[in-house]
Amino acid sequence: MNKSAVTVMTAGIVFAAISCGGQQSSPKSSAELLEQRCSACHPASRATDKKKTAEEWEATVQRMMDKGAKLTGEEKQTLVNYLAATYKP
Ligand code: HEC
Repeated sequence: MNKSAVTVMTAGIVFAAISCGGQQSSPKSSAELLEQRCSACHPASRATDKKKTAEEWEATVQRMMDKGAKLTGEEKQTLVNYLAATYKP
């Protein structure tokens, strides 16, 4: 009785740990998005050397999308949030 309750709990903890870890290592992580989508025409450091506000990053990423950067609306938002939080004035 006790033993099986412990087994169920352990399984639950292991499962929770695996699903959290899975989300963190998702290929859509912000740093990877930047590396994958923003280094086709210039090094990604072209962006990471800059400091911009959220509005400026939004305008920059939109301009890059107009040039040909491939991002879905959701990916764009993820990237703008990441850039604005990490590379701010
Ligand atoms: C299709 C090619 C292309 C892709 C993909 C691209 N860029 Fe650019 N980027 C350019 C060109 C060309 C310039 C220089 C002309 C300009 O600034 O408009 C530039 C310049 C920049 C600059 C310097 C000018 C400024 O406004 O500060 C930044 C920052 C930048 N890119 C960020 C990014 C980010 C972030 C991404 C990923 C979303 C990205 N780029 C993807 C072509 C691209």
